[in-house]
Amino acid sequence: MLKPTVLEALQTQVQQEMSNSYTYRAAALWLDQQMLHGLAAWFRKQSADEADHAQRFIDYLTDRGAAAELRALAAPKNSYGSLAELIQATHGLERHTSAAIHALHALAVKEGDLPTQQVLQWFIMEQVEEEKWSEEFLQMVKKIGDHVGSVFMWDHRVGKLAVAPE
Ligand SMILES: [Fe+2]
Ligand SMILES: [Fe+2]
Repeated sequence: MLKPTVLEALQTQVQQEMSNSYTYRAAALWLDQQMLHGLAAWFRKQSADEADHAQRFIDYLTDRGAAAELRALAAPKNSYGSLAELIQATHGLERHTSAAIHALHALAVKEGDLPTQQVLQWFIMEQVEEEKWSEEFLQMVKKIGDHVGSVFMWDHRVGKLAVAPE
């Protein structure tokens, strides 16, 4: 049986992952409107990955004999002032998510919940990857600035990565 504190934190994390998925889905729509179709494809893939993260937590709750509860999601941000603004928000969101996963792990340690600690190992390493690409994207937009040609070249490269991931 999951302790109520751990159960509540896992339910909140399902909501966080679904919210991330929604945010990236909206980002992809905005990117398509900017004709940045490569980045849009990347963000659609991230949206699918975030929904997978939610499903991993849902499956784990089921395995522990608890029913996952799908909660209300706030409307995502649907437009951005610039590509840099979107990438900064993305970087911030991934860092925020890492902090939430780490806090969840600390709670599982405090509650002596070994299976939850084990399940979180995958998420801890996944967040290393998530922070890696979002940090790289941040460095890239800083380098490129408003240079339209460079933005479209980068967009093309990211689009290729989205269809044939590393
Ligand atoms: Fe995630
Ligand atoms: Fe993520």
